[in-house]
Amino acid sequence: MLKMKLKGSCAILLAILAVGALASALAMAYAFRGGLSARSTPSRLEAVLARHVRQWAMPSHERARSNPIRASEEAIAEARSHFADHCALCHANDGSGETKTGRSLYPRAPDMRLPATQDLSDGELFWIIENGIPLSGMPAWSELGSEQESWKLVHFIRRLPKLSRQELLEMEALNPRGPEEWREREDEERFLRGDDQAEPGPRDDDQGRRLDHTIHH
Ligand code: HEC
Repeated sequence: MLKMKLKGSCAILLAILAVGALASALAMAYAFRGGLSARSTPSRLEAVLARHVRQWAMPSHERARSNPIRASEEAIAEARSHFADHCALCHANDGSGETKTGRSLYPRAPDMRLPATQDLSDGELFWIIENGIPLSGMPAWSELGSEQESWKLVHFIRRLPKLSRQELLEMEALNPRGPEEWREREDEERFLRGDDQAEPGPRDDDQGRRLDHTIHH
């Protein structure tokens, strides 16, 4: 009798597992029907599910933490430079996520000026900055002594919807540059100082030197 009962439960369990596996396979086939690409945008259902799982997985006492740092202009200015240097590559200086990298990630870097981000608690933003978001392009930034920086970044994220033009200009100067951009800037500066006869223009070899330099020197 007991044996039969056990057999019955096993069969039910197996059936549930089989249905679950089939449903997952169908969902994956549907989600990836156009081929796997980080260029696609997650469906609404996927985005909502991912957000809920993220919220559910965050310890509630972390979510309830309040920002221990005063929102002084000094703290925000410090975080602004930090953001321009470390975060703007994906999130853009204005937090819109409109950068080449931010648009190419799956899921994409969100527009952090919108309520979806602004309605998160200070504790949630802090947790995300410190721990990153698994299975996404968002890295974890925690390291020894980083807590203060992260709380300041939380203040700066609150500022994003009302950043001034002046603030954006200051950030542009702090954005990391690739070697090509540095060379262009140096050329421009040399030209403005009058050290260079030729105008900064297109380069013709991989080293970034201009033809007249290569020939005469
Ligand atoms: C390499 C790209 C990349 C960098 C660099 C990066 N992020 Fe992110 N970030 C992302 C992506 C992608 C998401 C969205 C992940 C998701 O939706 O699951 C994200 C999400 C977030 C969120 C959650 C927003 C929301 O509404 O869900 C916060 C807050 C955040 N990032 C802050 C920062 C800060 C502060 C920095 C710099 C210290 C930073 N990020 C650097 C890619 C990046």
